Amino acid sequence: MRKVKFGVIGLGLMGREFGSAAARWCHLLTNGPAPEIVGVCDTNKAARDWFTDNFASVKIATSDYQELLSSKEIEAVYCAVPHHLHQQLCVDILKAGKHLMGEKPFGIDQKANTAILKSLAEHPELVVRCSSEFPFFPACQRLISWIREGRFGRIIEVHGGFNHSSDMDLSKPLNWKRMIEYNGEYGCLGDLGIHTQHIPFRMGWIPKSVYAVLSDIVPERPDGKGGTAPCLTWDNASLICQVDHAEGYTFPMTLETKRLDPGSTNRWFLEVYGLDASAKFTTDDPNAFTYLETKGTEQAWARVVVGHKPMFPSITGGIFEFGFSDGILQMWASFLHELDGREVSFSCFTPEETRLSHALQTAALASQRKKSVEPIRI
Ligand SMILES: NC(=O)c1ccc[n+]([C@@H]2O[C@H](COP(=O)([O-])OP(=O)(O)OC[C@H]3O[C@@H](n4cnc5c(N)ncnc54)[C@H](O)[C@@H]3O)[C@@H](O)[C@H]2O)c1
Repeated sequence: MRKVKFGVIGLGLMGREFGSAAARWCHLLTNGPAPEIVGVCDTNKAARDWFTDNFASVKIATSDYQELLSSKEIEAVYCAVPHHLHQQLCVDILKAGKHLMGEKPFGIDQKANTAILKSLAEHPELVVRCSSEFPFFPACQRLISWIREGRFGRIIEVHGGFNHSSDMDLSKPLNWKRMIEYNGEYGCLGDLGIHTQHIPFRMGWIPKSVYAVLSDIVPERPDGKGGTAPCLTWDNASLICQVDHAEGYTFPMTLETKRLDPGSTNRWFLEVYGLDASAKFTTDDPNAFTYLETKGTEQAWARVVVGHKPMFPSITGGIFEFGFSDGILQMWASFLHELDGREVSFSCFTPEETRLSHALQTAALASQRKKSVEPIRI
């Protein structure tokens, strides 16, 4: 099995998820390439220590990412840092000729995203993707198959969302994800939006216009030092989009991203309603595919437990449950297969899709400002 030598920049929540996925690559029953983490970079020593303590393969542990980029051995980089660093680091990674798995929003704003894509255009030989793991749940893959097979008939409407509730705890201190200078003006949209857009964009459901309602519900939070600080990022966003279907009709698509959604721990969902059939997937019921087939005047929902039948087969028995870290492992398997020049039935979020994402989110900010329906300029 080919080993792809990786550097990881940003060893926090997501950097460690990749580390763990790489450590259990034997879980997969594929002959695709495996990642080997040989270099790690974080300004926080404790974060580096977690990797050096757990990965004998790590040869470079540094606080200076240029040290990783100058290593000839490193072929690919996972860049999981706060949003204000995306542009500089992604551009430098591409200039250094490394394949890249970036993180959302793939640039703190549209200008940063454009700069990253410009740099990529100068290096078309590199495989570049952006992380988004929820579509890899087997029950969600079932929903994707139904869309591809045209089983819904004419689409009536689509609802997607990614909602959290940890900010309902008003004593939770502010972190970089709630600070405009590190997280960006998009707020919750930049943090959660790409997750909601992955399947719609891939299915060709590109919004032509958006009306956005953005809410700043908790404008101040504890600063973690005994005082309070302003929380200027948007907490919740509801986007109502108009989508032109390839078959010549228009349908509404709502995409919501919320940090204050009572009861939603990490609720990602997609619901597709059509004339012939409808279906739903939610991470609240992660093994189930819920569907309805239109028969006569009455309709009834059915729920099938799909089990562990992922895109890339694994050692886990088909009757067992699938979870978040399995989604991460599948996403990385998809990236590694593409990096190796292999076809995958569903790929990670592409750079071109990040461009669409920024066009939508930038229009959403304008819509909020002007209280208007905004065209998506792509
Ligand atoms: N795919 C997902 O489900 C998902 C989930 C959460 C976050 N994310 C994204 O992942 C990225 C990172 O988020 P996170 O939750 O892991 O954040 P985090 O705060 O847990 O980790 C970020 C790490 O970057 C390090 N860092 C900061 N400046 C650095 C620098 N100059 N050089 C090297 N390291 C530096 C920090 O010390 C920290 O350890 C963000 O883009 C975020 O939007 C994705």
